[in-house]
Parts: sequence; structure tokens; C-alpha cells
Amino acid sequence: MVLGQIIGGEYGELVVRQKSGQIIEIGDLLSIDDIILQVYDLAYGTLLEATDLARMSGMQLEGYEETVLMEEEIRNFVTAKAKPLVHVKNGVARIPKRLPGFFGTVNRVNTDDFNFMEKPENSLYLGKVRSGSTVLDVPVNIDGREALSHHILIPATTGRGKSNLVKVMLWDMVPKEWCGILVIDPHDEYFGRNEIGIKDHPEAREKVLYYSPNPPKGGYSLRVNISLLKPWNLRGIIEVTDAQSQAMYVFYNHHYDDWLDALLTTDPEENNHGIQSITLEVLQRKLRLALDINMVGGEVRTRGNIFVTQTNNDIVNDIADAMEEGKKVILDTSSMAGDKELLIAGMITHEIFRRYKKHKEFGNLDDKPSIGIVIEEAPRVLGERGGRNVFHTIAREGRKFRVGLIAITQLSSMIPREILANMNTKIILGNEMKSERDAIIGSAAQDLSKDGKNIASLDKGEAIVSSIFTKFAVPIKIDLFDDVVEKEGGKKTKLEFFG
Ligand SMILES: Nc1ncnc2c1ncn2[C@@H]1O[C@H](COP(=O)(O)OP(=O)(O)O)[C@@H](O)[C@H]1O
Ligand SMILES: [Mg+2]
Repeated sequence: MVLGQIIGGEYGELVVRQKSGQIIEIGDLLSIDDIILQVYDLAYGTLLEATDLARMSGMQLEGYEETVLMEEEIRNFVTAKAKPLVHVKNGVARIPKRLPGFFGTVNRVNTDDFNFMEKPENSLYLGKVRSGSTVLDVPVNIDGREALSHHILIPATTGRGKSNLVKVMLWDMVPKEWCGILVIDPHDEYFGRNEIGIKDHPEAREKVLYYSPNPPKGGYSLRVNISLLKPWNLRGIIEVTDAQSQAMYVFYNHHYDDWLDALLTTDPEENNHGIQSITLEVLQRKLRLALDINMVGGEVRTRGNIFVTQTNNDIVNDIADAMEEGKKVILDTSSMAGDKELLIAGMITHEIFRRYKKHKEFGNLDDKPSIGIVIEEAPRVLGERGGRNVFHTIAREGRKFRVGLIAITQLSSMIPREILANMNTKIILGNEMKSERDAIIGSAAQDLSKDGKNIASLDKGEAIVSSIFTKFAVPIKIDLFDDVVEKEGGKKTKLEFFG
């Protein structure tokens, strides 16, 4: 069905006159020849001069009979501005390099227009192709193995569907052996402690591990022996001065695995390894605070239930082992204060990254699953302040070692540009803040310079996927998680707890 006609414009900025009776919306996909266009702006058009319009309006408003100059549908119309999205030639998608025919008629896209979209081998399902607010029955899958190691950014304002998207992605990845995932879950919303969640996947029992300070039966206790903590785990997470940082390394070099105990039990006034007493005193206080430690009779006592002295479990290695086997590990960090959550996340991340660097060195990286680390409010660890930590390192060099971040954020602008640009897949949900849209647009894999209004008008669950692994910036609608579960035979199960 004819929707309109191209009446002017230039490359990247075509002007389409909307046929009367038809409705073109922002974000709509139009097809002409073998090019798919996307509408990014709308305006009125008229054949009349401004003075004619003013006169006619005056006569109408003041109750005079209307003078008809031309048929209404001819003289006034809507124009849409559209940009070429993709050029499909012989079933292959390319970047459009030419203009469609002048005065050519445009149609709405249909599913056949997307026959060129294939399902890659290690696919990750994101949603369905969307034309404006119309959903087409065309699934969008990206090469997940590659996309994961090149980092995924999920930016949006609150309530636009970030968490839902992550659930849909996790659900899809549960059975897939090409990826091991660590989810740091500060809202305890992914596993499904009280509602439907990843635990309800038919294969969850074998492939999903859930760690919590208060685990259900079948889950694991999230407790970390403080002796597993190393000076580098604190870097960029707890604010320490250079002198304090050096002091930690000095203790580590002298006492190795007992460094923390030695550091905390030392009398700052005694001249220890040439460290100033004030430095040591402040450092001790910071560490006690961060780790919930009391000193009782000169001995270290942990007060909280996360960092403890009594536990034989080596959760850092256990979790790294599971991820290397392609499992999905969810950490319920909902009861932890910020520092503790990031410390634990950093310890595990550091270990998995260390292992993958070794795998690369020994040439067996290709046998290993890609690693994805899901982190909420990513600027907490990727922001400028706080200094370099393991997450910065991964954002910069992780892809060489198949370790990537799935970074969720409301504030992309707080992430350094260089890191933003390194996140090679962006699943952009709605955002009404221009400064945020600009940060995302400025670092996207495709030219989204015209998509400001488009992104601003995205509804819940509507997104644009801009990735070096897609031929064009693909508008999608993400499924509602509950629908996915229902469709794929997930059953809501009730968790049991001890005592
Ligand atoms: N893909 C979707 N389709 C329909 N509704 C959605 C979709 N994603 C999210 N929603 C709705 O929006 C609400 C907020 O989603 P949520 O994922 O929690 O947002 P965020 O994590 O960005 O704050 C959900 O409770 C749901 O009702
Ligand atoms: Mg959320």
C-alpha cells in the first residue's frame, strides 16, 4: 500500500509527502526500491502562502464561509523526514550509498523486506524488528559470542525496560555453552526469589547458580573469607591515597596471604616497614569500616555476614570455575553496602580475567566460553572518579581475552568517552535527557545523529540496537519477560528456605 512519495531532500535527509488517509509516525520503517528508510522527523506541508493561510484561518474562525482554493487533501499534508537505513542487494545488507528514485513511492515495510537478516551461529536473541510502534514478526539475533566480549551497554532512564531486557537476554543464554555470565544483582530481581525469574528456566537447575547471604535450598551462601582479599582488589573501589595503597602492597610482600591480618593487628606506632604511623592508622580505619571489622583483644573479628574469617568455601574460585563451564552465576548483593558489593564483584572479575589472560597466552581461548559481567549503575565502577579498577581494565582490553561487560546505566555521560566508544553494542532504550542521548549517539556504532527524537520517543521495551555486529541500527521491541517464560514452558516455582 502506498504510504507516500519522495518529493525532495538529500542523502540522509529525504522528504516524503504522506498520502492523505495514511499515518506516518516517528521511527516508522518505509521501503522503496531495495532501500529501507526510517522516519526521524515530521512536519506540516502546505501549498498555500502564509498570507493565504492566515486569511483562510481568519475567515473560518470568525464564521465566514470558507473560500476553497484547492481540495483539502491536496493543499495541506504531512511531510516526513527519513534517512536510508539499509540497502539490501541480492539478499545482502549494505550501507546505503545512493538515493532512491526521485518522486518514487514509498510503502510500509513487511516481514519479507527482512529476509536478509540471519541467525548467527552463537546467537543472542534481543527482540523483534519494530517499525515505529508496530512490531514485525522478524526476530533479531546478534552474534552473542562476539558481542559479549566487545561489551554491551544498556542505557535508559528508569522504568524503560532495562531489567526486563537483561532478564530476556539471560533467559536466552541459560542453555548456551558459549557464554559464562556473572550477574551482580543489587536488587535481587533476576533469579526470581519472590516472583518469576531465571530460576524458572527449564535448565536452570543445572546451569544457573544463585549466591545469596540468605540462600534458598539449592542456592549457595554468599560469604567471602577475608583472606581471599588482595591489595589489588581494593584498587579503584575503596578510596585510598597512594601512600596507603603502597602500604598494602608492602604488607602483602612481607606477609603474603596473611597481609590483611598483619596489617590490621600491627601497632601503627611501631615502625613498620618504613610506613608512616599516620598512614597505617588511617588505612586500618578505612579497611575496618569497609569490611565491617572489629578489633577484639588485638584480634580481627568480622561483624557482618559477608566478609568473614570462618569459612572454607573459596567462592572466588568456585564461581570462576562455573563461569568457565559456561554457567550463569547470579549474586544477590541486595543487602550489601556499595563497597562490599563491588569488592566481591571485583575479586571474582579479577580472577576470571586472570585466568582468561592465561588461556590466551596458552592459545586455548577459543575453547572457552565468552564471559559477560552484568553490572548495574555502571558509572559506579566505570566513572572517572575512584581510579582504575578491574572493570576499567576489562572495558579497555577485555575483548582481547573474551571477557566483556554488560553495563546497565541511566547515566552514560558519566562514563568516560573512550570506554563508551569501546562498548561495541548498545541497546538503547528510551531517554528524555538530551545530554544522555548525546553521549550515547556520539559513541554509537552507526550514525545516529538524526535519532534524537527517535530515542526520546521510545516507549517501554522499545529500543535501537546499534552494534558493530549489526549492519544497521536495528529498531526492536523487546519481549516482556513473563511472556517469554510462558511461551518457552517455564514454570513458576516456589523456593524453599532452611529453618
Ligand atoms: N519489553 C517490554 N514490553 C512491555 N513492557 C515492558 C517491557 N519492558 C519493561 N516493561 C514495563 O516497564 C516496567 C519497568 O521495566 P524495568 O525493566 O524494571 O525498567 P528499568 O530496569 O529500566 O527501570 C516493567 O515492570 C514493565 O511493566
Ligand atoms: Mg532496573
